[in-house]
Amino acid sequence: MAKSRVDLLTELAPDVERLYNRHLEAPRLWFPHEQINWGEGESFNERPWSPEDYPLGEGVRSSIYVNLLTEDNLPYYTSSILAHAPVGHPIHDWSCQWTMEENRHSMVMRDWVHISRCINPTLLEEGRRVQMAKGEVPHPATFADLIAYVSFQERATQIAHRNTGAKLPKDDKIGRNVLGLIAGDETKHYLFYRDLTLAAFAIDPSAMMIAVSKQVSTFAMPGTGIPSFTRHAVRIAKEGIYGLGQYLGDVLNPVLGIWDVEHLKGLNKEAESARLDLVNVKAKIAESVERMAHKASLIKSSLTPTR
Ligand SMILES: [Fe+2]
Ligand SMILES: [Fe+2]
Repeated sequence: MAKSRVDLLTELAPDVERLYNRHLEAPRLWFPHEQINWGEGESFNERPWSPEDYPLGEGVRSSIYVNLLTEDNLPYYTSSILAHAPVGHPIHDWSCQWTMEENRHSMVMRDWVHISRCINPTLLEEGRRVQMAKGEVPHPATFADLIAYVSFQERATQIAHRNTGAKLPKDDKIGRNVLGLIAGDETKHYLFYRDLTLAAFAIDPSAMMIAVSKQVSTFAMPGTGIPSFTRHAVRIAKEGIYGLGQYLGDVLNPVLGIWDVEHLKGLNKEAESARLDLVNVKAKIAESVERMAHKASLIKSSLTPTR
């Protein structure tokens, strides 16, 4: 029989403590204010923003916009996470540490965005107002759902920030550094949740298999509250920053591989059927990725001039 939420949380307490200590033993002490060249800033009132201020592909601009707004939505993520983190349990302390670290992402990113003029600040603020007034974030139903979801989410944000940084002009050393620092934090968050989920698999494999299967089939980059999110998501995928290919290759494959979901033993009937669903969903995603790559290669070859 699957263990209740309280049981799983209680049994995981030593693992939470172990992983939280591991996190603290390798501190990443960086200061948002030290990353920015403040002297480069100019008044937007005196010189309004124009795209020529910082020439950039539209997919990269969309990615900076969506990633920063996602970081802005932190209060709602914290509230969703704290709903499963009772005071007195180490997961509560971890969740506060996590919030403290996440909070600097939107600070430093916005400073860089405003000083470098890489995206339209008016559009950004309008997006923030619309998104934050809605407060739309996922609310995983159980603790098992939560840690499975956040593992994928942290890995996905790590990849999105990393790939965005790689698309910035080589001479924007500050922008590359800022996105690299954020991606580094996301990596550590991912490692915490990935290994906590691994420990949870050892305690209650059936409950975790059901939770992971559910999260994989419903996972999407957060952003439903962001104005024109679908249009931005298409541009970001087209730019090769984050799309179905990255979801499969950089998120699902490595994470599910470490949890070894395909060979897990001791599952109940419901969990076995969840595993089957998971394998099928992954195969469908792989088919779509292959189809898209084939289509792209056909378009490419039709555009290549023949001699
Ligand atoms: Fe973040
Ligand atoms: Fe994170």
